[in-house]
Amino acid sequence: MKILGIETSCDETAAAVVTEAREILADVVRSQTADHAPYGGIVPEIAARAHIEMLDGIISEAMAVADTEFADLDGVAVTGGPGLIGGVIVGVMTAKAIAAARRLPFLAINHLEAHALTPRLTDPVSFPYLVLLISGGHCQLLVVEGVGKYQRLGTTLDDAVGEAFDKSAKLLGLAFPGGAALETAAARGDPARFKLPRPMKGRKGCDFSFSGLKTAVRHAVEALPAGELAARDVDDLAASFQQAASDVLVDRTRHGIEAYRKLHPDGKTLVVAGGVAANTHLRTALAGLAEAEGLQFVAPPPRLCTDNGAMVAWAGIERLTLGLTDGLDFAPRPRWPLDPDAPKRAFAGAKA
Ligand code: KG4
Ligand code: ZN
Repeated sequence: MKILGIETSCDETAAAVVTEAREILADVVRSQTADHAPYGGIVPEIAARAHIEMLDGIISEAMAVADTEFADLDGVAVTGGPGLIGGVIVGVMTAKAIAAARRLPFLAINHLEAHALTPRLTDPVSFPYLVLLISGGHCQLLVVEGVGKYQRLGTTLDDAVGEAFDKSAKLLGLAFPGGAALETAAARGDPARFKLPRPMKGRKGCDFSFSGLKTAVRHAVEALPAGELAARDVDDLAASFQQAASDVLVDRTRHGIEAYRKLHPDGKTLVVAGGVAANTHLRTALAGLAEAEGLQFVAPPPRLCTDNGAMVAWAGIERLTLGLTDGLDFAPRPRWPLDPDAPKRAFAGAKA
């Protein structure tokens, strides 16, 4: 089985061809970072237009690299949501056109499901596993019980952790999106110099909160002598922030492991997925936690943590194997919770 996967829900235009045997025959990702950099954040209209301009070429490139004709495909998978709706529409319309023209099965994939299933593309991970899903838009602990079967244990009450990385990086004068740049600066810095808060640490349950941490970074910057954010300060603040974020994530995940074990006493695996899972410091901290808890730890390679088409193609393979295809009347979804039964949170107005 060979599937084309398309991803356009945020600021990466991506296409990949993946087989049932876990071979990634092609994985082309074009980041729009440079298009959005002047604005210090992602501009949805610019993203949608860039997806329209780039997507056909990126699909052709992926098909060429994979040495595959449309006639050789067994299906077309595309992120159907959640995400910036203009971009999602571009991907879905393109995927539908290919599926209709070639009479191929069409698979609308939940972007979070694509992140959550990625470890099964790279490693022999069996259900049920616990996943810490951390990206620019999401921060959740989920038990993955099977394809389409998710229990959300906790989520963020305000910012996603990737958002906190990006906003803190911006305060430190690092270019958007600053997550990876903040990690580079942190490697040179002293994590003990600035005393930053650990929001939610030690609290019951598995929810997160990051807006207070970001605010504390702002206060720390403001407390420095006026206009003097020296390189040393940037590195030390980056290291202090990264340490605080990772302490919180480890603490919340420890609570997640408890809840996971209550649901599945024989559960064996902790997984980390999503863009922030590319962070080496955090991967090491989570690996330590898993070891202490006697769990197997799986983290996909960094390039499969940030948005890509291979994860969408793989989720398509998982769904097609179970016969879970979608109709061409599928409507793109700006919001699409993985676990619709999870407690509703007061998101409205919570964002800083
Ligand atoms: O999964 P992703 O590519 O897009 C979303 O679905 O949101 O995640 C992007 C997020 C951004 O916030 C980015 O700054 C963050 O992942 N990120 C990192 C690192 N690499 C990417 N955060 C911390 N350390 C990194 N090395
Ligand atoms: Zn993502």
